[in-house]
Amino acid sequence: MKEKISAIRIQFKSELETLKDSKEVENLKLRFFGKKGVFAELMGLLRECTPEMRPEMGGQINSLKEELSALCDQALEGFHKAELSRRLLEEKIDITLPGRTSFLGKKHPIIQTIDELLEIFKEMGFSVQYGPDVDSDYYNYEGLNFPADHPARDMQDTFYISADQLLRSHTSNTQLRVMEANQPPIRIVAPGTVFRNEDISARSHVFFHQIEGLYIDREVSFADLISTMQEMWNRFFHRNIETRFRPSFFPFVEPGLEVDIRCINCEGKGCRLCKESGWLEVAGAGMVHPEVLKNGGIDPEEYSGYAWGLGIERLAMLRYGVKDIRLFAENDFRFLAGF
Ligand code: FA5
Repeated sequence: MKEKISAIRIQFKSELETLKDSKEVENLKLRFFGKKGVFAELMGLLRECTPEMRPEMGGQINSLKEELSALCDQALEGFHKAELSRRLLEEKIDITLPGRTSFLGKKHPIIQTIDELLEIFKEMGFSVQYGPDVDSDYYNYEGLNFPADHPARDMQDTFYISADQLLRSHTSNTQLRVMEANQPPIRIVAPGTVFRNEDISARSHVFFHQIEGLYIDREVSFADLISTMQEMWNRFFHRNIETRFRPSFFPFVEPGLEVDIRCINCEGKGCRLCKESGWLEVAGAGMVHPEVLKNGGIDPEEYSGYAWGLGIERLAMLRYGVKDIRLFAENDFRFLAGF
């Protein structure tokens, strides 16, 4: 029995020396001190000793147990300390590192421009209405005096979804809806996205934004249209803006005009943005055609009105000095961060 006890001591100590971490010490502890471990087995052997020997052997086993258990605790303490300092080293946080920047969301410059214009229009007495992006041929064309197969339809290359459904090619699709739902006086603006199957260039895109304006009342005149438009440019650009009105044709107005403003980018000297002309076309406008008033359920003998469609991208380009319309659609943060 005595030999067995000293063999266990030697075996335990030599095994303990080879251990590399606290987990291995815990395993060794279990193997020696566990329920079915070395010491449990040793206690079982006590029964084979003579009754006289038993107390002495029992005492020796207990003191060996205490001795080895103390060695285990000592080893564990050492490993725990080493493991903790290793973890602290590995998980060290360098509080001198600069923090990560989080970016604040912003409105897109086109939305900013629309919002700003809507504020101006509200101050001038207009309310805001919305029309659908996907619409019927009637509201986009037919009801606005573009009969089927009329060549004027080619002015706006249209994305058709079916024979009767299309992506609106202008915000003028809102006009008849508003007339059908209201009797004059009508004084609304209608912002929205429009779509055209056109070549993309520095000034033209396949999808862009417009704000429609529609004013119908008794004795609305051409002079009202011109003065209102002049007033809105001045308010938007915060200075007097040189404007040019050119006669033009849109089937839903009579007379019709195209509105140019002095290119702010080159101050009228000529640049890529204004195609070297010194002017940039920013809107179509005119007096609402009597046929359109009739289609909207409004008596053209009693009422007259004007309408316009502003190109928002063109205005934003002038306002912010953006030389290429494509930048608005590319979602490049380096560009957008500048607004
Ligand atoms: C129209 O869209 C008419 N609905 C405007 C109108 C409304 C006339 C009410 C009369 C009465 P136009 O196709 O010219 O017209 O477009 C109006 C403005 O949208 C243009 O002056 C221009 O500023 C802008 N625009 C037109 N095509 C493009 C394009 N491809 N890319 C960017 N802006 C465009």
